[in-house]
Amino acid sequence: PSIPVIAIDGPTASGKGTVAQRVAARLGFHYLDSGALYRLTALSALRKGIDLGAEHALAKLAAALPCSFQGEHILLGQEDVTAAIRAEEVGNAASQIAILTPVRKALYGLQLGCRKAPGLVADGRDMGTVIFPHARLKVFLTASAEARAERRYKQLIDKGFSASMDDLLKDLQARDARDSQREVAPLKPAEGANVLDTSDMTADQAVEQVLSWFAVIK
Ligand code: C5P
Repeated sequence: PSIPVIAIDGPTASGKGTVAQRVAARLGFHYLDSGALYRLTALSALRKGIDLGAEHALAKLAAALPCSFQGEHILLGQEDVTAAIRAEEVGNAASQIAILTPVRKALYGLQLGCRKAPGLVADGRDMGTVIFPHARLKVFLTASAEARAERRYKQLIDKGFSASMDDLLKDLQARDARDSQREVAPLKPAEGANVLDTSDMTADQAVEQVLSWFAVIK
């Protein structure tokens, strides 16, 4: 039998990271945070002063990304960049380089390689549409822009960053537009995806819903 994949896609701050991690923990599956790969590439580019439109230089960077995932920690070379890649500046740069086909291609194999027994929960924008189109279960997690801005605000404050709700809402809407209107791998529910609006749900309620969908088709 093939190794099962649960693909969880959705807009920024929809809660997909938290939900995907908890679903993976409950099932004992591996977890792929595909957004982290775009963030790592972006961080690396910002530090090296590479232009965010220089697609070939960026693809080269992405293809040779010296990253490793150790539990909850993400390393770039020897450096722990778990917190650094969550900065808004890095998220915005990530969404700018994510429109570039050569960058997406450079990260393709890395993502496929994460599918290992006993299973994988992968979160991102194109897990169900492009990377794992044959995923056993596809979920599209969404929430209102206001609910998402509020969640992102709490996340940033908890991590010691400063934040303004107004700026966050604007950033989020700009990033939604860029992610869903781009030509390559735009953000949209995959065919056959279960759509879940989490505006009025806790993360644990969303986790239970995903697990019950998976239990039915397993
Ligand atoms: O999910 P996260 O906010 O960490 O992703 C950062 C950016 O990376 C997103 O705004 C999106 O532009 C890009 N991304 C993508 N495809 C993925 C995951 C993330 O284009 N599978």
